[in-house]
Formats: sequence, structure tokens, C-alpha cells
Amino acid sequence: MPTPALLHSFGPPAKESYRKLVRADGVRVYDDAGKAYIDAMASLWYCQVGHGRHEIVDAVSAQMSELATYNTFDPWTNGPAEETADRIRSLSPFPDGRVFLCCSGSESVDTALKIGRLVARLRDGGGAGEDRQIIVRRDRGYHGVNFGGTTAQGLPLNRDGWGDLVPHFQEMDGDDIESAARIFAEHGEKVAAVICEPLQGAGGVFPPSDGYLEGLRKLCDDHGALLIFDEVITGFGRTGEWFASQTYNVTPDLITFAKGVTSGYQPLGGVICSRRVCDVLEADPAFLFRHGYTYSGHPAACAAALANIDIIENEGLVARTNHIGDRIATGLDALVADGILSGYRGIAGVWAATLPEGTDAIAVRDTMLDDGVIVRGVADWIAMCPPLVIDDADIDQVIDSLADAAR
Ligand SMILES: Cc1ncc(COP(=O)(O)O)c(C=O)c1O
Repeated sequence: MPTPALLHSFGPPAKESYRKLVRADGVRVYDDAGKAYIDAMASLWYCQVGHGRHEIVDAVSAQMSELATYNTFDPWTNGPAEETADRIRSLSPFPDGRVFLCCSGSESVDTALKIGRLVARLRDGGGAGEDRQIIVRRDRGYHGVNFGGTTAQGLPLNRDGWGDLVPHFQEMDGDDIESAARIFAEHGEKVAAVICEPLQGAGGVFPPSDGYLEGLRKLCDDHGALLIFDEVITGFGRTGEWFASQTYNVTPDLITFAKGVTSGYQPLGGVICSRRVCDVLEADPAFLFRHGYTYSGHPAACAAALANIDIIENEGLVARTNHIGDRIATGLDALVADGILSGYRGIAGVWAATLPEGTDAIAVRDTMLDDGVIVRGVADWIAMCPPLVIDDADIDQVIDSLADAAR
């Protein structure tokens, strides 16, 4: 027998058997043996509106019948791409900014990193601009798997093994703003941009420490660097506002997004650029932005985004996320009081429960899977990031399952 053809993401290539899903509806997914699971991870931090939403399927299908695909390289455009950019900027902190579209979070990150360096070169010109290439990354950060994003990660295991990565990156501490201040004190004039998730997701669900994001904003302003918030997980309602920049009231210069923009129904990502950034890009009419993907502004993906954003708006899911957060936090509080958990972190729709020393998170995850609940287990923590349509009974079932598995 040849080995299976499919090489899985973030898995051991030698592993041969996987759980096979065949359908999904609401917050539940079903495997090929008919077993139901509550999807308490919204797949991979992205399915805001839940599964099986025919409004999105119908919108994509209608768009495919009309204009299934076309690129948006100069001189082409299409209605869904323009409307998606317009909707996204109007929900963001940059209503007068512009939106670049791509197909994934990794592409959005590499785009933002390139724009960070480009703006320095265009703005400062010649030698000074060429010298300003440093990107400051954050310990524990996850920024996707393209070369730029891999280099930007603060998770050493993910950076190792690929040979030389992108030069001119410096790492700051995940919580202590003084470490960023030291990098700026030494290299300030050479820093093009700082990249961080406002709330760190895949690295362990760490909300920002007090003053951290504000401190980064000030350091960037004082030294002429751009601040990039990677909102691939936190965008589209996950933290109780459309963007975490609004939740934490700190405005960056560039925002990356993906995942929740379509709830995963089609692959879409992008970068929202502030007016300040756009002014630099637009200054010279002869300047050509030599960046873009074949599928940037794909009309079918954009149709999914528009239908998804409609659902989030019409069903009040952004505000609902705070209710979900209160219910999850109450449940986790009780498990800490009972000594089942050592603590928890998170906000609104994204949480990590920390397990007592010596408890194996993967074993807890597997027990919960057998119990019909999908969570993510890493090191000593269990992540939960459910669809924003999850009801109270299902939240309680997830918490009960965690209690049984971790006890
Ligand atoms: C903050 C952040 N940035 C970037 C990415 C990469 O996104 P993708 O897997 O769509 O390339 C992720 C994925 O989890 C993410 O959490």
C-alpha cells in the first residue's frame, strides 16, 4: 500500500490515520462514523457564524454563476472585491484607509511586512529608507508560515529547520514593554515596523499586559516606525468589537485579517492600511505597487465575505461575543475554584484554560474528542474559540467535558 497522498498540516508525516469529517451544521461537525462533535474551536479560530450557513453558500454560488473568477491586477476590478474592501474599512479603525486582499493570514502578514519596509523607503527616500529594515517581533507571536511570517513568529520551534530566514528581525518580550524600549533605544532609526497580535492567539491566548499596546504605539510614533496588528484571529468580532484594536483602544498603522472575514467558507485575507500609509503609497503617481496575488480580490471569496459580514451584523454576533465570554469565564472560574484548572486567560470569544502541573493537554484534548467536544491542546493549556452562534447549553457542555477530562 502506498502511503496516503495527503500531507497534513502541522502533523507528523509518518502518521497515517486521521479523523475524517463528512458534514457540519451550526456548532456541530460529524465524522464518517456519524459521531457528532461540538466545534469549540470554530475549526481553527475562524468559523464565526457556524457551519452550514446557506446564505453564504447561495451568495458564492450566485457569484460563481455570474463571474466566477477574475484577477484584480491593473487594469481589472470587480464589484464584490470593491464592496468587500469598502465594508471592511468602514468597520475598521481606518474608514478612510484602503484594503489589500489576498487569500490567507500568512499572505496578509507577508504583505504587511513588505508594506512596512516599503513605506520607510518611499517616505524617507534613498539611503535613510534603505537602512530602515528592522521588523520587531514579539515572543510567543504566531504570524503564519510564509517566510516573512515564519521569521516574525516568536515560537522558536516553528522557526527552526527551514534554513536562513528573513534578515533584520529583532525579538521583544511578550509582556514587558521595556524590552521593546531597549530595542528602539539601540536601533530606533532603523526600525521599519513592529508586528504583534493585540491578543496573542496560537501562542497561548495571552491578552496584552497593561499598557503594552499603548507603549508600542508610543515607541513607534517616537521613532517613525509603523505598528502592525495581526488580527487574523482577533478580527471580525472575536474580542467583542469588530477588531481588537477597538477593544483595546489602540490604533495601529496596518491591520492584517483573514479567518473570520468569511468564517472560512472561502479563503480570504487582507491588510487594512491607515490613511497615513495610503498617503505615502499614493504620493508619487508614477509609483507601481509591485505586489499582489493571482487570487487577490477573488469575486467568489469576496461574495462569501459580504454574506458572512451580513450575518454577523444581522444576528448581532459582535455584541453576543461578550455574553459568550461571560458564560465561559464563569464556567472556568468554577473549575479553578474546584482545583481542576490552575487558571485561565482570554476575552469574549477566545480563551485558554491552564491545566495543573503534570497534566498532559493532548491527553485532555483526546478525552474531550472522545466525549464529542473539539478543543485545542498545547503544552499545559486548552484553547477554546467557539463559533459566535454557540448557545448557553453547548457552552456548558464544553465546560463540563473539560472538567471531566481534566479531573
Ligand atoms: C495571528 C495569525 N496570523 C497569521 C496566521 C496565518 O494564517 P493562515 O493559516 O490563514 O495563513 C494565523 C493562523 O492561525 C494567525 O493566528
